[in-house]
Amino acid sequence: MNLVFLGAPGAGKGTQATRICGKYNIPHISTGDILRANIKAGTPLGVEAKAYIDKGLLVPDEVVIGLVEQRLAEEDCKKGYLLDGFPRTLEQAEALSKFSKVETAVNIQVDADMVVERIAGRRMCKCGESYHISWYNSDKCQKCGSALYQRDDDKEETVKARLEVYEKQTAPLIEYYAKKGVLKNVDGMQSMDKVFEDVVRILDDND
Ligand code: AP5
Ligand code: MG
Repeated sequence: MNLVFLGAPGAGKGTQATRICGKYNIPHISTGDILRANIKAGTPLGVEAKAYIDKGLLVPDEVVIGLVEQRLAEEDCKKGYLLDGFPRTLEQAEALSKFSKVETAVNIQVDADMVVERIAGRRMCKCGESYHISWYNSDKCQKCGSALYQRDDDKEETVKARLEVYEKQTAPLIEYYAKKGVLKNVDGMQSMDKVFEDVVRILDDND
């Protein structure tokens, strides 16, 4: 099961990816999470990536392509994987096609206003859980008890830049995967449970 999740910032890629990977027991590979872990650890990659992420811009293709190629070569990806936030440019998609075959690209569709509301209210935990202030009113993680925080790139100005970058550089991938015959659209405006059900139905139909 080789999956790609497409969708604007805040569409719910990470939320659904966690659930889907739990259900199908495949690794969740989020380039955003990998880059943020590197920023936190102060690695050279993290220092380079931070300059782009803080502005809402994409990290250069050659950097992320190398990261993903290495990650997909690991043993746990032999049974499949879910890529969350990669590819994000046509160049990345072309590079990926040279080292792995994407079987399904799930595109989570949401309206632009919803994206802003979701991102503005998102709170993260260092364990990877993510919450929203509309349904969670504690500042501690339900799973591990750590303090929740807001992502640095979730400030309004940066969000605007991320949305513009998405429209220009990432949205063309919808057509790219449609042409390859592997695109599946999901209505991301529904509840999390309903979105999950729809994705599961798509994946089970493909078997
Ligand atoms: P990345 O971390 O990938 O961020 P993103 O694409 O902007 O997406 P988000 O993580 O913000 O949103 P999401 O779709 O995961 O939504 P979530 O599930 O959290 O990338 C960050 C940066 O890293 C990029 O800007 C770039 O600089 C760099 N980068 C990463 N990958 C790269 C690449 N391949 N190439 C170059 N640069 C790269 O949900 C959002 C909120 O909504 C949460 O609060 C959640 O609880 C809530 N929510 C979710 N679903 C629902 C629902 N159905 N109903 C109600 N609330 C919901
Ligand atoms: Mg995410």
